[in-house]
Amino acid sequence: MKKRKIGNSNLHVFPIGLGTMGMSEFYGETDEKQSISTIHKAIELGIDFFDTADMYGSGHNEELLGKALKGKFGKITLATKFANVRGSNGEFLGINGKPEYVKKACEASLKRLGIDTIDLYYYHRVDPEVPIEETVGAMAKLVKEGKVRYLGLSEVKGETLKRAYAIHPISAVQSEYSIWTRDVEEANMKECRELGVSTVAYSPLGRGVLTGKFNKIEDTNDYRYYLPRMEAENFQSNKKIVAEIEEIAKSKNAKASQIALAWILAKGEDIIPIPGTKREKYLIENLDALKIKLSNDEISKLDKLYELVKGNRYDDYSMANTLQ
Ligand SMILES: NC(=O)c1ccc[n+]([C@@H]2O[C@H](COP(=O)([O-])OP(=O)(O)OC[C@H]3O[C@@H](n4cnc5c(N)ncnc54)[C@H](OP(=O)(O)O)[C@@H]3O)[C@@H](O)[C@H]2O)c1
Repeated sequence: MKKRKIGNSNLHVFPIGLGTMGMSEFYGETDEKQSISTIHKAIELGIDFFDTADMYGSGHNEELLGKALKGKFGKITLATKFANVRGSNGEFLGINGKPEYVKKACEASLKRLGIDTIDLYYYHRVDPEVPIEETVGAMAKLVKEGKVRYLGLSEVKGETLKRAYAIHPISAVQSEYSIWTRDVEEANMKECRELGVSTVAYSPLGRGVLTGKFNKIEDTNDYRYYLPRMEAENFQSNKKIVAEIEEIAKSKNAKASQIALAWILAKGEDIIPIPGTKREKYLIENLDALKIKLSNDEISKLDKLYELVKGNRYDDYSMANTLQ
């Protein structure tokens, strides 16, 4: 399997990574034993790019990866993120991009992961109070100190990426990208390509919705239940998108999840999707997306589905912190 290079770095990864957020929080019940065995299965199947953040489960997710990947760091690429600050009860305290916080957050992540160096360190959300140059300056210091190998940003507009890049090369921008979330194509993909920065596509399965597994809103029963796209009227309309994907999937003897991933994989070698799952069954299914070849006609049919999307991808508060 041809690996995909992450931007200007010397990191070459399997074309599909694994997002581990749901193993700690947001998407229903969690089971540590099951999660660890899924991570081990991922490695067995060739996956070598793991995505976490300090805020997932308020540190739990990094600890979980530290445990699951012990002895395997160095052979895999580990990405984590900072800036979303949480309190001792998990409450969200805001975004912090201050240089002194960058250093503190990195040290805490290294400790939880049980490693000396993070392969790819992302600024998760942009702090409107701190110029990007200052935050990235502090991140660059971490590279100099050997605590971080490469830098990434998440939810940034092209202009912010350019300002950041002028301070230190950025290897990847992590953006929500899927059949039903394409605002990033306008917001930063042109600049990513000009600078040779990879796009890491998060929530590539539309947080599970694009797999067709939710027939009614109540099926989500977790964080997703409160997302605008799940509001009654919006959900009914968005289900039409899923039905179209399922139709194409049926004609190819595939699953909707595989079509959703194949669509992203077809959008460029510089894009690496990181679908999230806690289960081996889904992991195996998702990797089979690599075997699917979509025709130009199928891609353009899937492209058009974006016009049908109803509702923002986050609530108003969170939307205000995206693509900054
Ligand atoms: N930078 C950011 O701001 C940001 C934001 C969100 C996420 N992320 C990262 O991106 C990763 C992936 O995104 P995501 O987890 O939000 O969304 P996603 O990958 O679009 O969807 C995950 C959901 O889909 C389900 N699923 C996965 N494969 C499936 C299959 N083959 N059939 C049916 N259901 C399937 C999972 O179920 P199970 O849970 O039951 O396995 C989970 O509920 C995260 O883990 C995280 O690392 C980053």
